[in-house]
Amino acid sequence: MFLSRLVYFSHPVPLGNADVTDILTKSYANNYLENLTGALFYNGSWFVQVLEGARDIVTQMFLKISADPRHTGVTLMEFGTAQQRLFAEWEMRYIGAGPLQEAIIRKYMPAGFDPTVIAESAAMVRLLRELADATPPDPSPRS
Ligand SMILES: Cc1cc2nc3c(=O)[nH]c(=O)nc-3n(C[C@H](O)[C@H](O)[C@H](O)COP(=O)(O)O)c2cc1C
Repeated sequence: MFLSRLVYFSHPVPLGNADVTDILTKSYANNYLENLTGALFYNGSWFVQVLEGARDIVTQMFLKISADPRHTGVTLMEFGTAQQRLFAEWEMRYIGAGPLQEAIIRKYMPAGFDPTVIAESAAMVRLLRELADATPPDPSPRS
């Protein structure tokens, strides 16, 4: 099996808390079963997701996610073979947006969060990893 990492961003359609909870509940359950790891950033205007796992599994999951009507403009930043998992601890680390996250984001993007200005997906992955480390864990983990 080839370990792969996929990074994309997209625009959420207007979502309620229940939509985000549904996405996370499904993600925790499915990704655990599929041995997928990663992170999902959501700030109301953008989703950014990192998915890591077996190449065929990542491909199938991305095809499913990209067809989800809860977001549009899905844009791939990276899909390739990876040496190691960078989010190995989490089947899907949820990163919401608040003052804590904003301070970290400003170090990478002084004008505010905008994935379209990032050329290298590695820089986006570093930002998400820093955000993941700084963000308290989701209070409603996989049950
Ligand atoms: C931005 C976004 C990210 C998502 N990420 C995942 C994910 O990592 N894993 C997952 O199983 N579903 C994810 N989903 C939900 C899937 O599109 C789909 O609704 C879900 O996998 C269906 O689960 P089921 O086949 O168990 O019914 C995501 C949806 C959106 C909009």
